[in-house]
Amino acid sequence: MSGSLFDLHGETAVVIGATGVLGGAMADALAAQGAEVCVVGRNQERGEIRVRSIIEHGGKAFFQQADAGDAASLRAARDAIVARQGGVGILVNAAGGNRPEATLPPGADFCKLPLDAWRDVFDLNLVGGVLLPCQVFGEPMLERGRGSIINIASMSGMIPLSRVVAYSAAKAAVINLTQFLAREWATRGVRVNAISPGFFPAEQNRKLLYQDDGSYSERGQQIINHTPMSRFGEGHELGGAVVWLAAQRASSFVTGQNVVVDGGFSSVTI
Ligand SMILES: NC(=O)c1ccc[n+]([C@@H]2O[C@H](COP(=O)([O-])OP(=O)(O)OC[C@H]3O[C@@H](n4cnc5c(N)ncnc54)[C@H](OP(=O)(O)O)[C@@H]3O)[C@@H](O)[C@H]2O)c1
Repeated sequence: MSGSLFDLHGETAVVIGATGVLGGAMADALAAQGAEVCVVGRNQERGEIRVRSIIEHGGKAFFQQADAGDAASLRAARDAIVARQGGVGILVNAAGGNRPEATLPPGADFCKLPLDAWRDVFDLNLVGGVLLPCQVFGEPMLERGRGSIINIASMSGMIPLSRVVAYSAAKAAVINLTQFLAREWATRGVRVNAISPGFFPAEQNRKLLYQDDGSYSERGQQIINHTPMSRFGEGHELGGAVVWLAAQRASSFVTGQNVVVDGGFSSVTI
C-alpha cells in the first residue's frame, strides 16, 4: 500500500460546530488532508466564511445548517449530506461549551446552582453535542460498515476543575458515552474516539480567561501557572489528533480512546 497513512482524499467529513474556533480549526486540518468537509452549524454566515477559507486554501467544503440539539434538524441535514455525497465517513462532534449561569462564582454555594443552567449545559454538550449526532449519523455509517466518530470532550471531563462543575460533569459523560459506543460498534466498522482539549481561547470561554484589556484574568493566570507549557493552546494544535483519528489507515485499531491535548495540564498534580 502506498501513499500517506493520513490521506483523506475521497472522504466526507461532517464537522458539527465548525462555525466555532476549535471545530473550524479541525475542519481546516481535515480539508488539508483531502477530505471534503461539511461545515455544520446554526449560523450560516459564519459557516460560509469557514467554507470560503477552506476553498481559498485549496480544500473542498460546503455548509449545511443544523441545530445539533434538534433531532429532526440533524436528520434533515444528514439526509441532504448523504444525498449529495453518497455517505459520511468522518463525524466530528464539536458543538458545545460552557454557560456562565452554570459556573459557580468563587465562594458560591453549590447547593444553589440553578438546575435550569445545569440542564442547559448537559443538553448542549452531551445530548446535542454528542448523543443525537452519534445516533443520526451513526445510522448510515453502520449501514456502510465504516466510519470514524470523534467527540470533543474536555480535559475537565477527566479532572473536575473548580467552578465549571456542570460542564465538567457533562464532558465526563461525553468520555463515558464515547467508550460505550466504541464497544457497541467495534465489530461493525465504526470507531468512536474522543479528543480532550485543555485550554484554548474561544468565544465561549474568552471572558473566563481574559480581562477586557486583553490581559489574563485571575483564572486565566492560574491556568497558565499550572500548565507545563505556560501557555494556552491554539486551534491548529488539535489538527494532528483529529486527522490521526479520522484516517482509517492511521488509526484502524484505535477505538474508545480519549486523546488529551492540553500542554501537559493534566499530567501534573495541583
Ligand atoms: N476552547 C476550549 O478551551 C475548549 C476546551 C475543551 C473543550 N472544548 C470544546 O470544544 C468544542 C468547541 O468549542 P469552542 O471552544 O471552539 O467554542 P466556540 O468557538 O464557541 O464554538 C462552539 C460552536 O458550537 C456550535 N453550537 C453550539 N450549539 C449548537 C447547536 N445547538 N447546534 C449546532 N452547533 C452548535 C456553535 O455554532 P453556531 O452558534 O453557529 O450554531 C459554535 O460555533 C466544544 O465542545 C467545547 O466544549 C473547548
